[in-house]
Amino acid sequence: VASLIERREVEKLLVLHAGIVSGIVDALAEGGAFAAEEVARRVEGDLRACRILLYALADVGVVDEVQEARFTLTALGRTHLVDPGPDLERHSLLHQVTKFRGWLELPHVVKHGAPPPRRNERDTRTFGRTMAEGGYEAMDHVVSRCLAYADPHPVRTMLDAGGAVGHIALRFARQGGRAVLCDRPAMLEEAERFLREQPEEPAITLAPCDFNESLPAGPFDLVYLGNVYHIYGPDSNRALTKRVYDVLGSGGVIAIRDFVWERSHRAAMFAVNMLQATEQGGVWREGEYRDWLLAAGFQDVMVEEVPHTGNQLILARRP
Ligand SMILES: C[S@@+](CC[C@H](N)C(=O)[O-])C[C@H]1O[C@@H](n2cnc3c(N)ncnc32)[C@H](O)[C@@H]1O
Repeated sequence: VASLIERREVEKLLVLHAGIVSGIVDALAEGGAFAAEEVARRVEGDLRACRILLYALADVGVVDEVQEARFTLTALGRTHLVDPGPDLERHSLLHQVTKFRGWLELPHVVKHGAPPPRRNERDTRTFGRTMAEGGYEAMDHVVSRCLAYADPHPVRTMLDAGGAVGHIALRFARQGGRAVLCDRPAMLEEAERFLREQPEEPAITLAPCDFNESLPAGPFDLVYLGNVYHIYGPDSNRALTKRVYDVLGSGGVIAIRDFVWERSHRAAMFAVNMLQATEQGGVWREGEYRDWLLAAGFQDVMVEEVPHTGNQLILARRP
């Protein structure tokens, strides 16, 4: 009988999570073939548990049993869980599981309209680096679409508002412009570490801010807001849109990347994620975005797909 869910996918995610957080993956990443006893010693863990998880990680394909009962990390495991690069999804996998802690509280949200007070502070490193993982093509696409839309207005200065570790700001900076990254102070500490790890450390100005209070002083040629409108409710978004207008120069562009309700196949589920994670967040309609943009004074509103992401890009211009 066909089930409604793919149980194996859920189990795979949780086994990968356990493998990363317990240290088993990193113990193997040092290279060589290790017996379960050696892995257990390295992670200071229980032998029976390590052995069972090693076989489960092998079942997922990230670990190989090379000689009898000796284990290595596979190439797949290395590129997806350890090495920097386009396939790395280490932090995203951890983040998926953290998210589900919140999803388990949905019945409480249904009853009371908000999640119970959270015990754990958000893990800024995992969250910030999740944003920077995967989807490199989509990120490059977004940057080139923003520049094409702005043309012939040159983008010499840009602001990445709520830009997390600066993965988009650095792509703009590589095009030769001056990029300013604003986010909360804790996230900018992680951004500093992330940017230092980049092959050619880009010159990006870090500006701590609460963008619902104020933005770094402009004028900017472009303000980019990726996945931030879904965190807040309509009143905050309307005010933020106006705040962005005020820091743009004439001809400057606002670029918003997010899930748009009528267009994104992920809209309904993503709205649930915002329900468990935020007080007023959600997935907004195209009409709402147009309304906020026009009310702020923007013109030439354009909504287009970010291919293969379920995300849309909304562009508009300050006259
Ligand atoms: C979902 S992440 C998006 C990151 C990045 N823009 C992207 O699209 O990949 C949202 C970011 O906005 C930041 N943020 C949320 N509320 C903020 C606020 N009021 N002021 C400044 N930053 C904020 C968070 O710290 C986080 O880095």
